[in-house]
Parts: sequence; C-alpha cells; structure tokens
Amino acid sequence: MRAHVLTKYGKTNDVLRFVEHPLRPPGQGEVRIDVEAVALNPVDVKTREGEPKVLLPFAPPFVLGSDLAGTVVEVGAGVANLRPGDPVYAYAGMDRMGAFAESVVLPASRVARRPANLGAVIAACLPLPGLCALQALDAAGVGRGARVLIHGGVGGVGGLAVQLAHQRGAEVYATVGPRDLDRARALGATHPIDYRESRFEDAARELDFVFDTVGGDTLTRSFGAVRRGGVVASLHVPPSAEALRAAGLRAPWFLRALLPLLTRKPRGLAARAGARLVPILSVPGAAGLESLTRAAEGAGLQVTIDRVFPFEALADAFAHLTSGAARGRVVLGRR
Ligand SMILES: NC(=O)c1ccc[n+]([C@@H]2O[C@H](COP(=O)([O-])OP(=O)(O)OC[C@H]3O[C@@H](n4cnc5c(N)ncnc54)[C@H](OP(=O)(O)O)[C@@H]3O)[C@@H](O)[C@H]2O)c1
Repeated sequence: MRAHVLTKYGKTNDVLRFVEHPLRPPGQGEVRIDVEAVALNPVDVKTREGEPKVLLPFAPPFVLGSDLAGTVVEVGAGVANLRPGDPVYAYAGMDRMGAFAESVVLPASRVARRPANLGAVIAACLPLPGLCALQALDAAGVGRGARVLIHGGVGGVGGLAVQLAHQRGAEVYATVGPRDLDRARALGATHPIDYRESRFEDAARELDFVFDTVGGDTLTRSFGAVRRGGVVASLHVPPSAEALRAAGLRAPWFLRALLPLLTRKPRGLAARAGARLVPILSVPGAAGLESLTRAAEGAGLQVTIDRVFPFEALADAFAHLTSGAARGRVVLGRR
C-alpha cells in the first residue's frame, strides 16, 4: 500500500513522499481499514513543520495524518464490535498518526461506525474536531439554556461546537469573519459576531461557557465574557503533563518545568474572573465518535467542504490549506 511519509520535518512540502509502505496485519484489539478519504487539520501542517516534535513518541520518517473514513477489511483477535465491511471513521491520535495512507491499522477502541447518512469525504472531517468540540462542551456541562460563546464559529472545530451546542439547547454566540455571519446562523448560532468589526465581550457577557479555538488576545479577552463560576475551554493552553501522558504523548522534563510558566497568564486571568480554565487536548476514542454518529444521524451535522484533492496530491492540498484560500475543509479522496 502507498502512504504519505514525512521524511523529515520542514516548512515546505518537499519533505513529503507518497511511496510504497509496509503494513503489518492487525494485532490483538486492532483493525485494518481501507481508507477512502482523509481530512487535513491544522495540526497536520504543524506536524510537518515539527512543532509538536518534543511530544511525539516517534520521529521521521513516519506516515502523517489524523482523520480518516474508510471500510474495515481485517480484524485482529478480541475485536467484537467491528467486522470486515463496516463503514467506519477514526481519529488516529497524535501518538500514532498514519491516516494519510491507503490502508491503516488502528486500535478498534479508536474506530467507530460512521454516520449512515454521510459519505466518506464528509465523515472524514468529523473525528478530531468533533472529539475536541464534545470534550469542551462536556467539560462545561453545556446543556439546555446554557449561554455559550464559540470562537471561530465556522472553523473545523468551532463549526461542530456551534452545532453540538445548539443541539443541546444552548443559546449560542459565535465569533466569525464578516463573510460567515449567515453560515454561522445556519449552523445554529443565534448571535453571530463579526470578530473584525466588534469586540465580542461588548456583545456577549456573563456567559456560562466560552470555547477558545483561536488563542492569543481572543483567549485573554474571553475572561471578560464569562460569568463567575463559568468555564473557558481552550485549544491553545498547554495541557498538564498527566493529560499529555494519558494521550500517549511525551512530557519531557524541560516541558514539565516550563508548563507552569506557559500557563501562568491564562490561569491568573481565570482566577481573577472566578472561572474554570480547561485546556483541551484531542484524545482519540470510539465513544466520542459514536456520539458524533448519533448527532449526525439525528439532528444532523453540516461540514463545508472547500475542495477534495486526489489521494496522491497531499502536497497540493497542504499548499491550498496554508495559502489561506480555503473556505471550508480540505480533503483527499480515493474514489
Ligand atoms: N489542542 C488540540 O488538541 C487541538 C485540536 C484541534 C485544533 N487545534 C488548534 O485549534 C485551532 C483551530 O483549529 P480548526 O481546525 O478549527 O481551524 P480552522 O478550521 O482553520 O478554523 C479556524 C477558524 O477561526 C477563525 N478565526 C481566525 N481568527 C479569529 C478571531 N480572531 N476570532 C474569531 N475567529 C477567528 C477563522 O476564520 P477566518 O476564515 O475569518 O480567518 C476560521 O474559521 C488550530 O490552531 C488548531 O491547530 C488544537
């Protein structure tokens, strides 16, 4: 089978090779999946560049990629819930990756039946961002009547968070660019806010929950929008060493030493606001995927696809994603 191998870390796409790659049969508790579509996430670009390299339990060369949809073709011993022929999707996990390949072996505990009403291209866009969105909403116990603000409300993570929060009966504020106000409304945001024109903390106050998918100044100002006793969840606050290890990642001594310093500002802001700060780290898992499948098959989940590239064209897909021109998800499809 062929796979997109990252030969070494680098800022340009010449570090990628689409080559024949060996694949072992599934072991105990694992399944082999014939991949039909994979979705690109910002973390794939960051990984190509080596940003998370101190966390990874392996070094190049390795097969890149997080999110995939495909069909189970082989199951290892002890797998009871999946069978050959099952249409599935998965987030491979940062501790494993390997999704950008024609075939991948993954623990069955990271794989779930994909929504019957969605094709492989759309299903491949759900796992990593959807799992993050669920984790954030669950951490804050977002339910009926909760007043929530989702930053980047039509982005990969934010777009799913808006829909899932709306489905739970929350009143949803969302920050988006000027061209995306109607799109945010269509996803379930009753109060879309143009982040280029307005200060969200003037329009949205005393909120139960703020989900920061943007970081920087947006995270800092989020503490002005949350109520005392509320929750700010962020994709841009480093998680604890325990959370990294639980996700199968490394937490070297220098990172452990730096973590208190790296998180001091948001922790201080949270303490002053009387809010709880929750760092979000994507964690693979079938249970979360099953919840996404129920949401997609029930009220429905929408994903905007910007462009589907041929499977071998990862370099072109990366170039398109990093150009900033994509207005939706970028996918590689095999058929
Ligand atoms: N910690 C984790 O485990 C984890 C997991 C997933 C993602 N992430 C990170 O989280 C970030 C978002 O991921 P994603 O997949 O959602 O990215 P994405 O699909 O690129 O979406 C980002 C969205 O944020 C919007 N945005 C940019 N600046 C903004 C601002 N100041 N205020 C409000 N919205 C703004 C963008 O809108 P415009 O089009 O107007 O620029 C875009 O819609 C990435 O940096 C990613 O690496 C971390």
